[in-house]
Amino acid sequence: MNVEPIQPHIGARIHVARDRLCDPEVVEGCLQALERHGVLVFPQIGLTDAEQAAFTHALGAGGQATRHFPGGAAVEGEVFEISLNTDLEARAAYVKVSFFWHMDGLLLDAPLPKAALLSARRVAPSGGQTEFASTFAAYEQLPEAEKAQVADLRAVHTPVAGLRQVLAEPPSEADLAPLGPGYGDREHPLVWTQASGRKSLIVSSTADRVLGLPIADGRALLARLLEWTAQPAFKYRHEWQEGDLLIWNNHGVVHRVLPYDAASGRTMRRTSIERIREGAPA
Ligand SMILES: [Fe+2]
Repeated sequence: MNVEPIQPHIGARIHVARDRLCDPEVVEGCLQALERHGVLVFPQIGLTDAEQAAFTHALGAGGQATRHFPGGAAVEGEVFEISLNTDLEARAAYVKVSFFWHMDGLLLDAPLPKAALLSARRVAPSGGQTEFASTFAAYEQLPEAEKAQVADLRAVHTPVAGLRQVLAEPPSEADLAPLGPGYGDREHPLVWTQASGRKSLIVSSTADRVLGLPIADGRALLARLLEWTAQPAFKYRHEWQEGDLLIWNNHGVVHRVLPYDAASGRTMRRTSIERIREGAPA
């Protein structure tokens, strides 16, 4: 197994034979690389659904997160299909929320899912790239005065904040109906001190307001932090090829997909990990 860093702050390509993926030393190496690089790319590894599910289970536990996501449809077990090819417009709206920077699971009444695996079955001829930005680097490089300014602030994340970016009218009850019971308004700190002691920013287009600040000031701050995080030095854009597999550390990166057309047939397979398996390095 060979780990080839892509940029100093984010991304690594993993070169490994497909039939070695679930070997304990490869799993261990991937988990370490995930902490260090935030996003792992397995170029054109071409996993089947069963292989992706097996690798997901080797890395961690859980995997229910996507089940509640209105845009996802189960293909098999915990493997979900992500595409805009849906007969339900309300579901497509939720997939389009992913055109905007976000972290997965911020609206769920549960700990943030640790990681997701996404593989490409059919790519779009244009658009559809996935972008990632390091929220660890964004915090670490933030000027000291701004670190102090945001240190104790908390934001409210809402389904409405995400949806109003993709709908012409303010979201109605019907627009919110596809959401599962675990979804709702949730508070998160702007600065997350993780169990390892390392700090990251929690930035996402689902953030609606900052507690204790006037609406405009809070939204301006949220926009500025998102812009800061998404600067080129902290960012990686993945140009998909069929068969590529990506894993991202949802605790350390924010992500979005660049817009693509439903007619492109872009189709991805997704699995997720609630937490890293017991005994793995933090
Ligand atoms: Fe996402």
